[in-house]
Amino acid sequence: MDLQNEFRIGMRKYIYSVSVISNTQSNGSRNAITVSSVTSISMEPPSIITCINKKSSIHESLIPNSEFCINLLNEKQQDIAKICSDPNKIDERFKNIEWVESKPPILKNALVNIICKVDKIVEYKTHSIVIGLVQKIRNSDFKNPLMYQDGIYRINTI
Ligand SMILES: Cc1cc2nc3c(=O)[nH]c(=O)nc-3n(C[C@H](O)[C@H](O)[C@H](O)COP(=O)(O)O)c2cc1C
Repeated sequence: MDLQNEFRIGMRKYIYSVSVISNTQSNGSRNAITVSSVTSISMEPPSIITCINKKSSIHESLIPNSEFCINLLNEKQQDIAKICSDPNKIDERFKNIEWVESKPPILKNALVNIICKVDKIVEYKTHSIVIGLVQKIRNSDFKNPLMYQDGIYRINTI
């Protein structure tokens, strides 16, 4: 098996928590995509990275100083994750999904909403590493995140 396939299989073994990244463009249109690549970088200042495919619809709108929200999904938000990762459902992402009508849009019932400002974008091959400076946090009382491992959405059954 070639290196790329071995790598894909290896990375599928990790357990990922699932988030949706949302933003509003200057023309008012909204974007939301499902991501797993969210990691905090530093507490000083609170900052976070996510890796966004250059082909994704949200990519070109993630420009320096623009705001976006990272919404960590709860275990019952699998449908939202599926809609926001399906290129054929781009028009459904803000229909029948509970959003706070703010800029950027904030997903209701997420475990946490992390509102960030794009500080830096580092391009790497197919993706851009987006470094966000945290502006505001909205923690909820939900405890159980939606997870993804080996290509399957999973919930904590303990
Ligand atoms: C669990 C999961 C995690 C994902 N993580 C990322 C990610 O971190 N970065 C990314 O660019 N795409 C990620 N994707 C793929 C995008 O959600 C998908 O390509 C989406 O269709 C892109 O948005 P678009 O349809 O608006 O172009 C992930 C998909 C799933 C199902």
